[in-house]
Amino acid sequence: MCGIVGYIGPKQAAPILLDGLEKLEYRGYDSAGIAVCDGDDVTISKAVGKLANLKAKTDNGNSITGTKGIGHTRWATHGKPTENNAHPHCSERFVLVHNGIIENEEALRRKYLKNAEFYSDTDTEVIAHLLQKFTDDGESTAVAIQHMISEVEGSYALAIIDKNDPDVLYAVKNKSPLLIGSGDGFNMIGSDAMAMIAHTNNFYELNDKEYVVITKDSVDIYTCYGKKIERNTYVAELDVSDTEKGTYPHYMLKEIEEQPTVIRKILKEYSDDDGELTIDPDILKDIRSCDKIYIIACGTSYHAGIVGKQFLEKISGIPTEVCIASEFVYNMPLLSKKPLFIFISQSGETADSRAVLVKVKEMGYKTLTLTNVKGSTLSREADHTLLLYAGPEIAVASTKAYTAQVAVLAILAANIKNSININLNYELSKVSNVIESICDDKDKYSMLAEDYLKDSRNCFYIGRGIDYYVCLEAALKLKEISYIQTEGFAAGELKHGTIALIEQNTPVIAIISQENTNLNTRSNIKEVKSRGAHVMTISTKSLSAQKDQIIINDVHEILTPLVTVVPAQYLAYYAALQKGCDIDKPRNLAKSVTVE
Ligand code: M6R
Repeated sequence: MCGIVGYIGPKQAAPILLDGLEKLEYRGYDSAGIAVCDGDDVTISKAVGKLANLKAKTDNGNSITGTKGIGHTRWATHGKPTENNAHPHCSERFVLVHNGIIENEEALRRKYLKNAEFYSDTDTEVIAHLLQKFTDDGESTAVAIQHMISEVEGSYALAIIDKNDPDVLYAVKNKSPLLIGSGDGFNMIGSDAMAMIAHTNNFYELNDKEYVVITKDSVDIYTCYGKKIERNTYVAELDVSDTEKGTYPHYMLKEIEEQPTVIRKILKEYSDDDGELTIDPDILKDIRSCDKIYIIACGTSYHAGIVGKQFLEKISGIPTEVCIASEFVYNMPLLSKKPLFIFISQSGETADSRAVLVKVKEMGYKTLTLTNVKGSTLSREADHTLLLYAGPEIAVASTKAYTAQVAVLAILAANIKNSININLNYELSKVSNVIESICDDKDKYSMLAEDYLKDSRNCFYIGRGIDYYVCLEAALKLKEISYIQTEGFAAGELKHGTIALIEQNTPVIAIISQENTNLNTRSNIKEVKSRGAHVMTISTKSLSAQKDQIIINDVHEILTPLVTVVPAQYLAYYAALQKGCDIDKPRNLAKSVTVE
């Protein structure tokens, strides 16, 4: 949550900072601000709402002079989204931007800052005053930062300006993501590589509790005790065009339609020289020697995880439990004797999942992360990583990352033990073609959204087994971007209570892709229809009935989540579009959830 950026070099900083923030807006968008230094002068400009407001206020940054600065796009945790609470925050000497949460801010206020005057409701302001206090007490800025690291509990990525030092920017991180971009005669700070990729593809990774002293020509990384660390840069395999919308009106639509390409890319990346889909033998060795897999994830990644459980149990025969990260961390189930943990996370930065990773690593268990972001925290800290190769996912509502997660989980399961002899190379190629044919039909989803969803207050997705798991994801898509209250429900469970909510014209969308549950779900459809529901059915061709609204070409029965989810993504997209919602940046949300 929240995105931070920094620049020091020869160019006018403000337009560069605003461009970087635009790439980070997925991390939060309730207010934004920049601070730019021109010699001794520091100009701070802030605006409530989307970044566009700050851009308008500063003539896209052109009205602010200076070649060093920091910027922030906010997802409020402490205090309302007002200009006063927007970052940067400052004390007399320090100006800083922050991503994360300071957990012991009250204790710090009591211990050190009794005389400080606070102007905002944020936890961040505490850091600005703390650095002021430590330097007022005679510490150098570097020592004050070390002191701050030793005192502050919580998560933070910080970019800091010391007004007394015009040639330097400071950065520091703990638990929140932060990268340093390295260029020729300039350097940058960013919450992720996308914020800097227009200027450089060379990056320094930072570990927790490290701080960095940055000039336009140098990047010096230190431990929290002030010991200098030698570290090489890495080159990010990211293209500027990956982060652009192109001719699409929204990132979400682009990302939905990238799904066939993503599946093909996964097939390519996981194929060996003989065209066989393979997984690193070390990963397979660890998994084969565990007695149970625990999948840990949140949101859409959790939904991919429950589909993955089916693969791991039905294809490879390994008992698997899927847990919501934020629940698991404070309420751990009784573990098996030799568990292995799989973390699924598009961003690789989700704080809830990371809290579990830290805990189970302390307990000595093996860990594997499935993530879309190479070098992300969950990837670096787990024993193993499997990449999703979905390319940057910018829309807050996850689409292509979900299908990538499901596809990689299938490849993993079949590599552990392919007890159903599925030819995944063939079957996944077929899936990518079927998704393509679904994408060809999008006018139809637009009409169905208008007919069924646009004016509805609520909606139900129903299905059984693996279809039910897709219903959970389909419901999340619809609710998060169109704000229609939607539940994914096990079709057979409806009659045990929830059917009471069905009224005349309540939309119920049924997903049918499994032969063994087809007739049962169709009975459940009749039950809701006879109580007035307006039913739409998404079915696979071999199980379809004449009046089904959406019929999808057949794929292998175990892989149907990869295709049945796609019309649901479109329905959510069009319902949100027709309701005039902000599709890529839905209210109250952020793409990368880096607070617990
Ligand atoms: O980056 P992660 O996959 O760990 O993120 C997990 C969830 O926050 C994420 O899937 C969220 O539910 C999306 N908004 C769903 O579209």
